Amino acid sequence: MRDRLVILGAGGHGRALIELLRDLPGHEVVGLVDARPPAAPVLGVPVLGDESALPGLLAAGCRQACIAIGDNAARLAAGARLEAMGFLLPALCHPSAILARSAEVGPGAVLLPRVVLGALARVGRLAILNTGAIAEHDTVVGEGAHVGPGAVLAGGVRVGARALVGAGAACRPYVGIGEAAVVGVGAAVVAEVPPGQSVGGVPARALR
Ligand SMILES: CC(C)(COP(=O)(O)OP(=O)(O)OC[C@H]1O[C@@H](n2cnc3c(N)ncnc32)[C@H](O)[C@@H]1OP(=O)(O)O)[C@@H](O)C(=O)NCCC(=O)NCCS
Repeated sequence: MRDRLVILGAGGHGRALIELLRDLPGHEVVGLVDARPPAAPVLGVPVLGDESALPGLLAAGCRQACIAIGDNAARLAAGARLEAMGFLLPALCHPSAILARSAEVGPGAVLLPRVVLGALARVGRLAILNTGAIAEHDTVVGEGAHVGPGAVLAGGVRVGARALVGAGAACRPYVGIGEAAVVGVGAAVVAEVPPGQSVGGVPARALR
């Protein structure tokens, strides 16, 4: 029997997760919930209302949820709310992702198509590795962090909780990116990024 699953968030990341789940055997998407529910189905998936619909879904046997919220802090907060209600947050890895056997992926984390995880890479709870991102050997992606499409974390890079590494950015081996820091699209990170700092450019410098 397939696991019944609800998606929280009907925006762009929600649409990405609908497509991901269509390629994953073992899950049946029962619908979407959103704080501002769209009037029409999204990619053919019914919209079930806002979070007030969740207890009824749980009671009806839908025990799994995935959190499709792009804002990193909001995604973690929503994950905690749903876990407290009793939902399970499965890790979702697209079948085209390539994972080293020693890589670890935490609950609620999402690996979109063509992600690569190297040896001993660790991906935290509710983190996102977006399409084509590469997290090389010994990298650590903190909980609720987001590594954007095509970004490359060279070996040993540490991405702090809730940090965002923008699309196409590249990070030198063993640099650390602080909690809630932002690396702009296309940046080349060659030195530590302090917590909460936004950086961009080649080499990456602090942005105003
Ligand atoms: C870094 C980023 C967050 C800044 O966004 P913002 O706060 O809205 O900033 P602004 O666009 O107002 O730009 C502020 C300044 O930074 C510069 N800047 C913005 N992004 C930059 C980047 N990636 N590299 C270099 N400079 C950048 C702008 O040119 C501007 O400079 P100015 O003040 O001299 O004109 C955003 O540009 C970015 O790269 N986000 C990553 C998004 C992403 O890849 N998400 C993945 C999910 S699919």
